[in-house]
Amino acid sequence: MFPDQADLDRAVALLQAGELVAFPTETVYGLGADAANPAAVGKIFAAKGRPADHPLIVHLPGGGGLDRWAREIPTIAWELAEAFWPGPLTLILKRAPAVPAAVTGGQDSVGLRVPAHPVALSLLRAYAEAGGGVAGLCGVAAPSANRFGRISPTEAAHVRDELGDAVPLILDGGRCQVGIESTILDLTPGDGQPPRLLRPGRVTPEQIGTVIGILPEIGIRRPDDGTPRVSGSLAAHYAPTTPLRLVTTARLPEVIDTLRQAGRRCAVLCHGELPSAAGAAHAWRRLPADPRGYGRSLYAALRELDQTAADLIVAEETPATPAWAAVADRLRRAACGAGQGTDFVPRT
Ligand code: TXA
Ligand code: MG
Repeated sequence: MFPDQADLDRAVALLQAGELVAFPTETVYGLGADAANPAAVGKIFAAKGRPADHPLIVHLPGGGGLDRWAREIPTIAWELAEAFWPGPLTLILKRAPAVPAAVTGGQDSVGLRVPAHPVALSLLRAYAEAGGGVAGLCGVAAPSANRFGRISPTEAAHVRDELGDAVPLILDGGRCQVGIESTILDLTPGDGQPPRLLRPGRVTPEQIGTVIGILPEIGIRRPDDGTPRVSGSLAAHYAPTTPLRLVTTARLPEVIDTLRQAGRRCAVLCHGELPSAAGAAHAWRRLPADPRGYGRSLYAALRELDQTAADLIVAEETPATPAWAAVADRLRRAACGAGQGTDFVPRT
């Protein structure tokens, strides 16, 4: 399963030739291209069907490369890189002049991260050793390897299903261990200012606060108030094609029952105890009752339930505690996706 040296050599050669390579990270699979090559980056947008003004994250082999990609780097950026890289934290910094506008969606900032997956790190290091692409900048731009607005892939097979023909090589690194996308932290306000949390993820605001001595501002702002655009901040994102509704634990049995009586095929996504009514549902998946385990399996479960030809996915709400914030964010967005207005269930 894991790529061997020949696979990595081929991946490096493809990146150098301006082609796409999909690869595993600890969060989700990425669709990679030489970040310093605008034509190669253009292929990412074409394959994903992503609007050109949505910026990409640049993946680096190590934190040392930060100043090739960013300028006016605040001290807290180095502290966070030291504490969390390799790992699921993306830092938004002012971009260095060499960074192509194609990567940043035309903005003056750039998203950077060092992923923790061994295959991603091997690829990035081999790429750097081979010269690191255009201008030797050693960065691989990679959004999640799904079509725009859809569920992020957490297994190589998901990438194949969704983008297969558009990608010459998919490196298979097994299941992603984190399972939801990286935490995104905007550091462009600079030292002395609280950074802004643009997307919640495995690295929590509390962990960030412990390292830099100041808690990030939480609450994603609208793109029109001058903050950077984040496609993951669109209300409808990470969505299955089947309509999805969030339902409280208390109402779950009643909702499942009502749908069954109405002749609707309902697929249930729950955690912890399985409500007895779920047995009568068209399909169900039970995820672990802890946020890490739940996050790891969430997207694969949504994909599965999406393929059961259900009329509706009914997802049990997760606890309203900080530990569940990143998972709850993805579920909320999935609930805003396709099928809005197909109201089989009274909203809870
Ligand atoms: O875990 C992850 O972050 C995965 C893996 C592959 O690294 N990548 C990922 O990429 O989720 P993507 O493109 O699907 O989501 C990245 C988000 C987008 O919402 C994008 O708008 C935002 O990061 N982003 C990138 N550069 C930015 C910038 N300069 N300012 C604000 N947001 C930025
Ligand atoms: Mg994405």
